Amino acid sequence: MTTPQHPDDFLRLLRMRSAEEDGIFWIDDERLAVFEPEAARRVSATNWHRFVMHDRLLDVVRKRTSTPVHWSRIRSAWLTQLHALATEEHHGRLIERMQRIIDARLGEDTDLVMLTQDMAVRSLLPLALEGLTTREADLVVLDLHLKLLRLVSPEPGGIGHLLRFNAVQVRSGLVVRRVLRERAGGKRNREPDLADPFVDLLPDLGMDRALDVVTAVLTAIAGPPGTAAASLLYEFVRNPEWQQRLTAELAGVDPAAFRTAPTRAAPMTHRFVKEVLRMWSPPLLLVRRSKYAFDLGKTRLEPGQWYLLSPHMIHRDERIWKQPDVFDPDRFLPGAPHGPADRTCYVPFGWAPKRCIGADIATVQLMALCHLLCTRYRLTVADPAAVTMALRFAPVPENFHGSLTLR
Ligand code: HEM
Repeated sequence: MTTPQHPDDFLRLLRMRSAEEDGIFWIDDERLAVFEPEAARRVSATNWHRFVMHDRLLDVVRKRTSTPVHWSRIRSAWLTQLHALATEEHHGRLIERMQRIIDARLGEDTDLVMLTQDMAVRSLLPLALEGLTTREADLVVLDLHLKLLRLVSPEPGGIGHLLRFNAVQVRSGLVVRRVLRERAGGKRNREPDLADPFVDLLPDLGMDRALDVVTAVLTAIAGPPGTAAASLLYEFVRNPEWQQRLTAELAGVDPAAFRTAPTRAAPMTHRFVKEVLRMWSPPLLLVRRSKYAFDLGKTRLEPGQWYLLSPHMIHRDERIWKQPDVFDPDRFLPGAPHGPADRTCYVPFGWAPKRCIGADIATVQLMALCHLLCTRYRLTVADPAAVTMALRFAPVPENFHGSLTLR
């Protein structure tokens, strides 16, 4: 299969072939699409089961093999820290930050994708790396912003853009290294964030791997949360009847309640968020390398070969979901006619053991955004008929200009 130039066309072609070939097919000589839910679950579970991090750079320099660190240890450090952060106070602060960032742009005629992106990254940054100076935070945010622009932009930038991109990336990496080093040396306060556990693990991990781990979280907060928030605004604008339903539901609800029991606190809003994530799951494709041989029935995946996973393809599969292209939050009601066949078919946060660690926070954030849209702000889109959804690394609304004002 020749890869079409435009990502939208590539995705469309993959979806067509997936329907014809039951979700498992060779895209070209090197890449296998694994879009069948059970196969995707099985391959992920086995492939990452004993995943370890090596200190490759240091190993080359010192001509030795460093102690491998199991990925499960990294995840367990993240999850323990997230557990400590899952308090009413921390969630309250996250929502306050979202509101402050939007308030600062009130009335501005703006690109709504960039606004939601900024809101997501800046409000989540203290969770990943707290206690930065304004200069440090601006540099890290700029790095994440440039990375995202490269992913969403249909045209690659020129050499000037690439040089700037690399320079900012290096400087942002130096900030992370400095923070970890200074926390370890007692020159900076320890903070309750997702970077902090790796200060104690520095002797085992070394600085390069610690930087990789912190960068993994920074990259994770820079992409999906912002594009998911933009998709939420997109469906909010396109579905006035849902705007009304959510406004009625959220009028008397305290968003603090989203933390512990989102379905009980605001069931319709929770369904709305779930449906946004079904229709517009970011990222659209996950590219992985196989470490083991897999017998997938009609074909085999050998060690070292590449494979692609895609929550999006599974969520739009007509053999699994009825009318998958219809936006219908009520499909998540028990027994609904548009509902999913089983839980392996709804995977917006990926698969164990690499499943997204931020799934709960992401849900709270998107529900809080609904709350703000229904109770505090009025969203005006300049030309609603011109807005379309483009499929880049993630679904991204195009021509999505407008403003948020106070109600
Ligand atoms: C709507 C928002 C989000 C979506 C749709 C999303 C989706 C995903 C997906 C699909 C993966 C890949 C899982 C796999 O490989 O199977 C992932 C991984 C990850 N996500 Fe998220 N994510 C979101 C928000 C967040 C947030 C808020 C955080 C941080 C608190 C976060 C942190 C991570 C990390 C660290 C990983 C890598 C896990 C690993 O490699 O073990 N994500 N996310």
